[in-house]
Amino acid sequence: MQILRWIGFGAAAVAGLGLLFLGWVYAASEAHYRSFEPPPPFATAIPTDDASIAWGEHLAATRGCRGCHGADLEGEIMFGAVETPNLAALARSETPATLEAAIRHGIGRDGRALYSMPSYNFVHMSDAVVAALIAYLQQAPVSDAVPQGAFAPWHERLMNEWSVRLAIARGEDGTIPMYLDQVPALAQQDNADQRIARGEYLAMTSCNECHGFDLRSNAPWPGSAPDLIVVGAYSEADFTRLMRQGVPSSGAELEMMGPVARGRFVHWTDAEVADLYAYLSDMSRRAIEAETAP
Ligand code: HEC
Ligand code: HEC
Repeated sequence: MQILRWIGFGAAAVAGLGLLFLGWVYAASEAHYRSFEPPPPFATAIPTDDASIAWGEHLAATRGCRGCHGADLEGEIMFGAVETPNLAALARSETPATLEAAIRHGIGRDGRALYSMPSYNFVHMSDAVVAALIAYLQQAPVSDAVPQGAFAPWHERLMNEWSVRLAIARGEDGTIPMYLDQVPALAQQDNADQRIARGEYLAMTSCNECHGFDLRSNAPWPGSAPDLIVVGAYSEADFTRLMRQGVPSSGAELEMMGPVARGRFVHWTDAEVADLYAYLSDMSRRAIEAETAP
């Protein structure tokens, strides 16, 4: 009898400690999610003319919103666990300020920091660009398609959520707003060669999603795409082929860059491809000069 009592006490103590631990993980991660000040409300008027809406559609295509939010913006299940919202529906139910807080600042509509939305890639978007993007989303057809992708079983999603919470609670991982000030400021906007200025803007609002915050493969997580000084070894014709067909100068099939180029970058205008090439080849020239300077 005595022994059974002690076993009972032991089990209760273990369960109690387990609950305390989960409580700590929850409270500490939740404190992190809620630790970022929302930005001042976005006040730029949302245009309604056809040209702005068409521009917004071009922005959504070249910045890959559909890559994660679904071909019809209907939402998607990513990594078997994270659900992206239906953007056309959200643009109707939320204010432009709420959308802008997510797009440029990584803060969700519930005021909590977002974990997977790549706002570091959009932080340098101008007010006019964000307004055109929202103008397009507000009137893009609302798809009622079921989000694409297989839902992981509930216990896998639960494990996923709690492993993220644990890493955040232990300070080993963080949410998007934490990284935004690591994205370098634009430095070429006053360049006498306006192609370079425009190309910097395009690259720093599209390529840095994967090629590092500075396009040089520096990202706080492992597995960044290669340093874009490789463009220095590309002719303009080869670079154009990479953007248009996803085929690199070596002719190899690129597992990630191939489909990304064919999905997004085919939508660049010829002028945008030329601007990107002007900026990236100049960036490469400057980087090599800096490394070989005496
Ligand atoms: C790499 C994938 C990815 C890309 C690209 C992406 N998103 Fe997201 N987005 C997400 C994820 C994932 C979420 C869900 C919240 C989270 O887990 O971060 C999200 C959430 C959002 C939200 C809602 C935030 C909230 O809960 O209030 C908005 C608005 C949004 N994205 C807009 C955009 C727009 C506009 C674009 C294109 C310019 C875009 N996203 C591109 C992954 C992406
Ligand atoms: C969604 C992620 C993603 C985005 C966005 C992206 N890239 Fe890439 N890129 C990759 C990956 C990953 C590789 C490495 C090859 C692979 O695995 O596909 C790569 C490879 C490359 C290469 C090297 C090709 C070679 O010769 O081997 C170049 C050049 C390049 N990207 C240019 C760009 C430019 C320019 C942009 C912006 C306009 C861009 N990428 C945007 C993921 C991305």
